[in-house]
Amino acid sequence: MLTRREWMRQAAGVTAVAAMPGLLGSKGHAKTPSSDDQAISGAGSLKAHAAARGLLTGCAVNANLLREDEGFRKLLAEQYNIVVPENCMKWNILRPTADTYNFTDADSLVAFAETHGMKVRGHNFVWHEALPGWFATAVNKGNAQKFLVDHIRTVGGRYTGKMHSWDVVNEAIWIPDGRPDGMRTSSPWFQMLGPGYIDLAFRTARAADPTALLTYNDYSIEYDNDEEGKKRTAVLALLRRMKADKVPLDALGIQSHIHSVSKDGFSRGVSELIEGAKALGLQVFVTELDVNDDAIDTDDMAERDKIVAEVYRNYLTAALNGTEVKAVLTWGASDKNTWLNHGTKFRKQHPDRTQRPLPFDPEYAPAPAFFAMRECFDNAKKR
Ligand code: XIL
Repeated sequence: MLTRREWMRQAAGVTAVAAMPGLLGSKGHAKTPSSDDQAISGAGSLKAHAAARGLLTGCAVNANLLREDEGFRKLLAEQYNIVVPENCMKWNILRPTADTYNFTDADSLVAFAETHGMKVRGHNFVWHEALPGWFATAVNKGNAQKFLVDHIRTVGGRYTGKMHSWDVVNEAIWIPDGRPDGMRTSSPWFQMLGPGYIDLAFRTARAADPTALLTYNDYSIEYDNDEEGKKRTAVLALLRRMKADKVPLDALGIQSHIHSVSKDGFSRGVSELIEGAKALGLQVFVTELDVNDDAIDTDDMAERDKIVAEVYRNYLTAALNGTEVKAVLTWGASDKNTWLNHGTKFRKQHPDRTQRPLPFDPEYAPAPAFFAMRECFDNAKKR
């Protein structure tokens, strides 16, 4: 079985070389490891290749790694021009009690981004998950509106003028809940405020931060199958209804938690989302891309990485086909930290195997997916 580094050498010698002149010596042989490293930074970085096409590229940032891991900070600064907090702008982190805020980690991330000239996406104002323990007892039908508005005013207001975009509402559609419009009735926000919580959140967000692009973000809307097709249709109908009602809405976030093995494709799904958003004058962001590799049979790491990279290539080829998608962010940068390895929820078929869903391996070496991303940026039209 090949090690990751051996595989990288081989890949650089066969497939990736054409797109990476910097990796070749004058006779076409792969250079030493130190110049390999050189070739993925600076002009070879994800952000340089993305920027050449007017694209933003980034990743979700884990606050602990940002605080404690210098290698991680270096990787972020080297590779990305936009970041999104993995967790530290969610209610359960920002709101230790009903009447206090803790901005420590969120402020650190925004400051880090400012220092390195990166943009920041906010994630998120309203979600049915990541609510603090006190929420269920303190928030009720009588005061939910005040909690929602105060939260968005306080958090949105704090970072006004510093944010590229905000995921204002996350995952509001859930078909199994059975409503004709697809709204997630099991969300506490829906239960306390009814469907109007969505418009309220967007209007409050616009007032709190007039310059951030206000985004609706959702998942399992990408694949060409009935289930995701229904959800996709409901999401697009929601966005159309919001636009008709003059709700301030600027972008659709396609989370893009995709799978290495699937009987369904995603070309039609992705293009329906993009065309639907385009018809409404919305920008589109790929907000949380990763490739779940649990269903890959082989344990050969190099083989798995290759399959994952191929899925990246196919997906980004579809997503970057037109010019609507303006930003591509992965959910994490390195396999050292991916939510897919928390517990075994996403490792049902191979519980003893850690997943490798991201463009950098646990040692921060570029994985084949890194080269697939760069190649897709190179192939994209200029935005
Ligand atoms: C995940 C984080 O990665 C985990 O660390 C956390 O425990 C749960 O949330 N969709 C989203 C993200 O919008 O906020 C989720 O992030 C992943 C799925």
